[in-house]
Amino acid sequence: MSSGETHGLGYHRVDGDPNVAVLLATMSATAELDAIRELRQWERSQLRLGPGLRLLDVGCGLGEAALALAQDLGAGGDVVGIDRSAEMVRAAGANARSAPCRVRFVVGDACALDLADESFDVVRCERTLQWLADPTAAIAEMARVARPHGRMSLIDTDWSTFAIDVADDVLAARVRTAMRTERGRPSNIGRRLSDLVRDVGFETIASREATHTWTSWNPHESPAPSGCFSMRSLADDLVERGELAAEECDAFVETIHAAALRNEFSMTLTMFAVVAARDNRS
Ligand SMILES: C[S@@+](CC[C@H](N)C(=O)[O-])C[C@H]1O[C@@H](n2cnc3c(N)ncnc32)[C@H](O)[C@@H]1O
Repeated sequence: MSSGETHGLGYHRVDGDPNVAVLLATMSATAELDAIRELRQWERSQLRLGPGLRLLDVGCGLGEAALALAQDLGAGGDVVGIDRSAEMVRAAGANARSAPCRVRFVVGDACALDLADESFDVVRCERTLQWLADPTAAIAEMARVARPHGRMSLIDTDWSTFAIDVADDVLAARVRTAMRTERGRPSNIGRRLSDLVRDVGFETIASREATHTWTSWNPHESPAPSGCFSMRSLADDLVERGELAAEECDAFVETIHAAALRNEFSMTLTMFAVVAARDNRS
């Protein structure tokens, strides 16, 4: 694998990644994961959007989810997507050319939205809170810009559910522990979504979870399981955090690749979704 085929672990510094095109391609592949497809379909059926509504997507990435929801808004609908990455916003804008209503993707910070109070019917945020130093600030901003009858829709990963099997129990336990530890970012936020919305005056009206399983990956054909970080990125991240010695890196990656070639590789990860409405009882 050449260093040009892989990218850094995570989405907190997209534009600074030396292989940003690979990062965007991974992002695009995640949209095809069974669990993501299931949760997005579920979200769409729960929201049942109608003509003329205003939708905000915070941390919109490539914009596919917002553009799918735009189909339900008719010509009078309005979609705004905010992302910190100019690369993501550029790609999302290109994806939006045939949108059925007004769509704008703009660079911005989830924690300081440059948007008016009470100006959106639905605010959504997918797999972005886990990358924020202060997810509660982002949720508070989403609550601020939601209209009084507005709804909030959150989808996020919970890395405390992560499991990996590579026919090497010691290595698997090491990876599992590393991925399950929050390490300065709220990677285990998936299970806490209902608490987060309650804290800003919203009530969960529906929730769902979906688990994705990766198997059948050929490391000779692709440096990473589809829609996932590469094992080299994982190793580099562990080295950076002092959880793996630099000289162990190659053996670490080779052990996982060899297991995949023997069909002894699997990983699972659960994602959670909530749709919430403003709690107007108090
Ligand atoms: C895993 S991607 C998810 C993208 C999209 N929501 C999706 O589900 O396809 C996380 C996104 O959060 C964005 N992001 C990270 N920090 C952000 C911030 N402070 N404000 C807005 N977006 C941010 C990243 O640039 C990236 O596009």
